[in-house]
Amino acid sequence: MDQLKETILEKGKILSPSILKVDQFLNHCIDTELMDAIGKRFADCFAGHGITKVITIESGGIAPALMTAVHMGVPLIFAKKAVPSTMTDPVFVTVHSFTKNVDYTLCMERSLIAPGDRVLFIDDFLANGQAFEGIRTLLEQQQAGLAGAGICIEKSWQPGRRIVEEASIPLCTLASIASMSPEEGITWNLDHETC
Ligand code: G4P
Repeated sequence: MDQLKETILEKGKILSPSILKVDQFLNHCIDTELMDAIGKRFADCFAGHGITKVITIESGGIAPALMTAVHMGVPLIFAKKAVPSTMTDPVFVTVHSFTKNVDYTLCMERSLIAPGDRVLFIDDFLANGQAFEGIRTLLEQQQAGLAGAGICIEKSWQPGRRIVEEASIPLCTLASIASMSPEEGITWNLDHETC
C-alpha cells in the first residue's frame, strides 16, 4: 500500500535492523487519514469472507482494527493484557513477546464472541507471530473461527508469515519489509504485499 510505505519512509525511524519506530503515525500519534485508508483497504481485501467481528490486541493494533471494523460495519474487540475487575467470565492465553522478551496474559470476556463467529485479526506488526497464535488460541476456546489476518507492517525475515500460512489463514499485509538498517534504509518485499 503506497500511502503506508511512503509514510514509513517519511516518518518511521529504523532503530536497529529489527525494530522500526512508528510512533509518529501508527502506535502513539495516530495519522487518522492514513488509518481510515488502511481500514478501507483491509475491509475491501476481506469483503466476501463473511467477517462478523474484528479482533486485535491492545494497544498498537486498536487504531487500524477500529477503522477496519468501521468500514466493514462490524464490532471491534480488543484483547486486554490485564484483567479488569469488571470482567466476569474471562478466557485467557499466555503469549511470549520475543521483541520485548516478556510473557504476558491476554484475556477477553467470553460472551463477546459467539460460537460460529468469523473473526478477522488486525495488527500493526507481524514479527514473530505470537500475537496471532495467542488470538487463534483465544478464539478456539470460544469455538469461533479465525477467518483472516490483516497486518499493516510485516517484517518478512521473521517467522510470523510462516506461522500464519501454516495455520492456513488468509493473510493480507500492506507493507512488507524484506530488510532494514539505519545505514541502508528499507528494502520492500513486493511479493508479500497481496492487497
Ligand atoms: P508478533 O507481534 O508477531 O507476535 O511479534 P512479537 O511478539 O515479537 O511482537 C511483540 C510486540 O512488539 C508487539 O507489540 C508488536 O507490535 C511489537 N513489535 C514487533 N516488531 C516491532 C517493530 O519493529 N517496531 C515496533 N514499534 N513494535 C514492534 P505489543 O506487545 O502487542 O504491544 P503494543 O506496543 O502494541 O502495546
